[in-house]
Amino acid sequence: MSYSQPDREAIVILDFGSQYSQLIARRVREAHVYCELFRFDAPAEEVLALHPRGFILSGGPNSVYDLGAPQLPDYVLQSGLPVLGICYGMQLLAHNLGGRVAPSQRREYGPALLEVTDLGCPLFEGLGFSLSVWMSHGDRIEKLPPGFAVVGQTDNSPVAVMAHPGRRLFGLQFHPEVVHTPCGADLIRNFLFNVCGVRGTWTPARLVDEAVDAIRAQVGNGRVLCALSGGVDSAVVATLVHRAVGDQLVCVFVDHGMLRQDEPEQVIRTFEQEMGMRLIAVDAVQEYLEALAGVTDPEQKRRIIGEKFVRIFERESARLGHFDFLAQGTIYPDVIESACTGRPGAQRIKTHHNVGGLPENMQLELVEPLRHLFKDEVRAAGRELGLPDALVHRQPFPGPGLAVRILGEVTWERLETLRAADAIFREELAAAGLLRQQEGVGTAQSFAVLLPVRSVGVMGDSRTYAHVIALRAVTTDDFMTADWARLPYDLLVQVSNRIVNEVPGVNRVVYDVSSKPPATIEWE
Ligand code: XMP
Repeated sequence: MSYSQPDREAIVILDFGSQYSQLIARRVREAHVYCELFRFDAPAEEVLALHPRGFILSGGPNSVYDLGAPQLPDYVLQSGLPVLGICYGMQLLAHNLGGRVAPSQRREYGPALLEVTDLGCPLFEGLGFSLSVWMSHGDRIEKLPPGFAVVGQTDNSPVAVMAHPGRRLFGLQFHPEVVHTPCGADLIRNFLFNVCGVRGTWTPARLVDEAVDAIRAQVGNGRVLCALSGGVDSAVVATLVHRAVGDQLVCVFVDHGMLRQDEPEQVIRTFEQEMGMRLIAVDAVQEYLEALAGVTDPEQKRRIIGEKFVRIFERESARLGHFDFLAQGTIYPDVIESACTGRPGAQRIKTHHNVGGLPENMQLELVEPLRHLFKDEVRAAGRELGLPDALVHRQPFPGPGLAVRILGEVTWERLETLRAADAIFREELAAAGLLRQQEGVGTAQSFAVLLPVRSVGVMGDSRTYAHVIALRAVTTDDFMTADWARLPYDLLVQVSNRIVNEVPGVNRVVYDVSSKPPATIEWE
């Protein structure tokens, strides 16, 4: 389902199976232009309902001559709208317009130097003659379609960029959407602004206004239930719904005891006291501790926590009267992964029980105001709505919380030990400005882990036999792969000293220097 708004400038991206399609959509949104990603064979009416101002065709693993290769839908060229074809998308343009595509002698993969041969091409405004670009292709254009000109070339691709400015059709052999093409974001912006003529009006203020209007239209006088987890998605959802329909919204926050230092208090303070929402805070700590007693298997911990959440949520909502809607923080990447691209899902390494995962049998209509937003847009909406910075930039935190950062059995005492150590680590990272990852500096996720072993130490004159804390800090863009963060030694020294001195029962601190893969980010 597209999210149509006739007066909004929108771009359609057609996905031909590239692993980078989602990145194209992110780059377009970063230019403050609304876009949606559709499978190449999505029904024309659905795509055109968006009233696009231009099309971007993604790359893809096929050759245009393969049997069953995804083809360019007729409506694209019939529309007369601007088109930017990337890699396979460029080859489709050439193939459909009377050019010739052929396997290249050499597959070209990796960096290449693009020589711009026509600086007057609107794609190159503000860029130089020589650009670093990222190639990944087998086929290449052997003969240009009529009316096209070469405007850029590399050593191995005589037609690296082709253009038909009159018809506003452009093709790039390389990938402008990846970070390895440093000028890529500018190229995409040039296509959007100089060729499609959009103005970049998809701002956080507009995004919030549209979401609020859409919620009002959907909900009417109905009552809405929302589960708050303490994370940014559910916080933004609740705030949007509250802005739209006020006290027709009731939020439920289940404190399962696995949250970090001060988090339950912060949730209550922010939403109940500062935002004035109707919030039901359920203290379920004892219930969870009893259910987790003696459990050491990580998957079993996840299962227990997820199932218990569903039961508590059902119980509480039943007490609160009749509801018509359930507000949920589904975001655009979830929608794309499950519906759009049809790529087989990555193998599941851990069951990701989100504590936001909700009962399926509640028969409530879903309100999902973030369904078309990327994570950075959700944060921008949060800022626009006046949510505290610490919440808006909160690092991802797993649904089962500290339960999967305590290796072995979860007890209250062990939770308190981990909470204290983790708070020190995060406090020091925050003071050093490293609790966020920005422009390659800082950490995307950082936390302490309590190990299930004791080690020998010496404090004063006596021997100790106490807990070991592992520190984990990673840099990553997508959490699928990650590298351990090269934290300054001085910071590690300070954190280690403070933990050993301030947290009773800990005598040793270690730093995890494993990347993902082969390790995962969490230890369980
Ligand atoms: P891993 O450990 O698989 O983590 O490298 C990747 C990302 O997923 C988060 N994670 C979870 N999130 N429920 C969640 O909601 C879970 O059970 C869970 N396990 C891992 C992890 O924190 C990281 O951001």
